[in-house]
Amino acid sequence: MSLQEIKIFLKQKLASKIDAVELTSLIGMLIEAVTGWNRMQQIVNVNTALTKEQQAQIEQYAEQLLLGKPIQYILGKAWFMGNELTVNEHVLIPRPETEELVEWIISYASIINKPLSILDIGTGSGCIPIALKLALPNCTVTGLDISKEALAVAEINANKLKATVEWMETDILNTAALDNTYDIIVSNPPYIPLKEKKEMQEQVLNFEPAIALFVSNEDPLIYYRVIAKIGKQNLSKNGQLFFEIHYDKGKAILALLDELNYHAELRQDSFGKNRMIRASLK
Ligand SMILES: C[S@@+](CC[C@H](N)C(=O)[O-])C[C@H]1O[C@@H](n2cnc3c(N)ncnc32)[C@H](O)[C@@H]1O
Repeated sequence: MSLQEIKIFLKQKLASKIDAVELTSLIGMLIEAVTGWNRMQQIVNVNTALTKEQQAQIEQYAEQLLLGKPIQYILGKAWFMGNELTVNEHVLIPRPETEELVEWIISYASIINKPLSILDIGTGSGCIPIALKLALPNCTVTGLDISKEALAVAEINANKLKATVEWMETDILNTAALDNTYDIIVSNPPYIPLKEKKEMQEQVLNFEPAIALFVSNEDPLIYYRVIAKIGKQNLSKNGQLFFEIHYDKGKAILALLDELNYHAELRQDSFGKNRMIRASLK
């Protein structure tokens, strides 16, 4: 089959599952992954025949897309703050909202303008600490997660991108205090109440790690409370917490932080949703 015929085959196979605009972009990504041709080369090679192996690989990818598997897991990579990261089923696919949180931290750290010690709690792919270390090379950066498998992915990413990051395997919910003091503690913790499961896309539900997503309906703010309490012991003077939050929980988290004696600032993401918080002890 020529490249053109493969494109038609993919469009017919996937049109009922994926909307047209997204499908065009996904097809381009799949073809690039299999042939190594960028978009321009795909135009030039439109009549070139693909090998049997390339066709078989594309058909296999198409089957996975039909099952709802996110393209990032199919190809094993995702982009975050311009960095190509390895991802697999043990880590959350990094989201654009989280890039906005990282940008906030970078602009804060740039104003402070001294080497800071930064801890990321619930690091997953390591997207946050790696992006921070690359942008703020004088800072000391640590990523913490409960999942050994996630930390293995984070380490691969740090090595690939030549970012020096320390990794800690720790269950933050069973930790009263940490050994070190940090100028910044950042976290994008699990924050989706289990009751919201039924409204979620099957792409997320069936393929992203539940441990990265969900909290109980009874105590949905547990990670924020635990981390804020840890911050009381492990934040340096003028130390800051930075959180990504559920858009619906801004006021509740501000109230929780106030009770724990923090000043806090709530910010919206580029969609106008309450999405991140910075807090420091009063
Ligand atoms: C929402 S994901 C965030 C991943 C990554 N920081 C990002 O922004 O894409 C939450 C992460 O918290 C980790 N996690 C869940 N429970 C934890 C716990 N009790 N202690 C430490 N990490 C935990 C999960 O393994 C997951 O990697």
